[in-house]
Amino acid sequence: MGRWIHGILITAALLLIGGFLSRSVAQGPYKLKLPLGLQEEAAYIPPDNPLTIEKIDLGRQLYFDGRLSADGTVSCATCHAPDKGFSDSRPTSVGIRGQVGERNAPVVFNRLFSREQFWDGRAASLEEQALGPIQNPIEMGNTLDGAVATLSAIPGYRKQFKQVFGTDVTAAGVAKAIAAFERTLLCGNTAFDRYEDGDDSALSESEQRGLELFQGRANCLRCHTGFAFTDERYHNIGVGVDKPNPDPGRYKITKKESDKGAFKTPTLRDIAASGPYFHDGSAQTLEDVVEFYDKGGIKNPNLSTDMKRLLLTTPEKADLVAFLKSLSCPDLKVAAPVLPPTSPPSP
Ligand code: HEC
Ligand code: HEC
Repeated sequence: MGRWIHGILITAALLLIGGFLSRSVAQGPYKLKLPLGLQEEAAYIPPDNPLTIEKIDLGRQLYFDGRLSADGTVSCATCHAPDKGFSDSRPTSVGIRGQVGERNAPVVFNRLFSREQFWDGRAASLEEQALGPIQNPIEMGNTLDGAVATLSAIPGYRKQFKQVFGTDVTAAGVAKAIAAFERTLLCGNTAFDRYEDGDDSALSESEQRGLELFQGRANCLRCHTGFAFTDERYHNIGVGVDKPNPDPGRYKITKKESDKGAFKTPTLRDIAASGPYFHDGSAQTLEDVVEFYDKGGIKNPNLSTDMKRLLLTTPEKADLVAFLKSLSCPDLKVAAPVLPPTSPPSP
């Protein structure tokens, strides 16, 4: 009998310790699984924001949660929608109360391989970037204090911030969680990647001719370099310079005359899904983009010396477009998560 009670006590103690351990070490490290074509060496995860399963999960909820905006209507996913190639199908974005912005929404996948964010590079990291739209009056129209107060009133978020960061809800935690989630959005295993991996049948003959043009005579590779299809640098290719008040782009940050009209080279992965194109959404289709490059961009004092007339034939233009469409990633699917309710469900 005594021994029996002893056994129960020991079991209870073990359960208690187990429960304690699993609560305090609940941070399951997250193992990144890179799809075919992406390079692990190029990944950048800041040392102070390691990926954990719980943090990514929290970030996914925040990314889809309109309650981060002033009136509850606009979330990150409004403008970076998974079913619209992580953009919004609009020339320029529309934020809170229907306000129209000045720039096209870039995609938010493969940001694992990047540092500077925005078309002009004004945010040094994904963490820094994430707090921008929340406070932007024409995007989510909130203040950080406002967003933190709203999230703090949601028991499910309070609990998760305690688990993930050991703190109350903070703006820094919001940024870290969203950035961690974004780093798991990866676009690879495209027909192009399978072709590069040795499957000759992965690209059609037209797509193969397009690839050859892309790397050769059409000079696209000059700026859309490497597996990410971007050098993450800033170039003036002439987009928007013919408008009344051209967007100064990178110049706004550096104040260097030569950076006027320069914008960050965007990735071309999954490009077929994220039109319209360019920082101002001025190209409706990939055919329009190719026409733009064929003419050598638009002349202006800062036009990149890598922009030249291409004189492509009509079939060559079609091949180039076909190749761009082979960069679609079949596996990047994200479903909207269940969000924690504003007040606990009544018993
Ligand atoms: C109203 C639409 C809108 C909302 C809401 C919005 N964004 Fe954006 N996002 C944009 C636009 C437009 C840009 C480009 C702005 C610029 O470069 O000046 C951008 C840029 C970015 C970039 C930079 C990508 C790159 O390639 O440089 C990231 C990352 C990003 N947004 C993530 C987010 C996150 C995270 C949220 C939610 C906290 C969010 N966005 C909310 C429209 C939006
Ligand atoms: C001198 C560098 C450079 C060269 C060469 C270049 N690009 Fe670009 N590309 C850019 C920059 C920078 C942007 C963004 C420009 C902007 O919006 O102002 C861009 C934008 C694009 C976009 C739109 C992406 C989006 O998300 O909106 C596509 C598509 C594209 N380029 C394809 C090509 C193709 C195809 C070629 C070859 C014919 C090419 N590029 C050559 C730098 C370059």
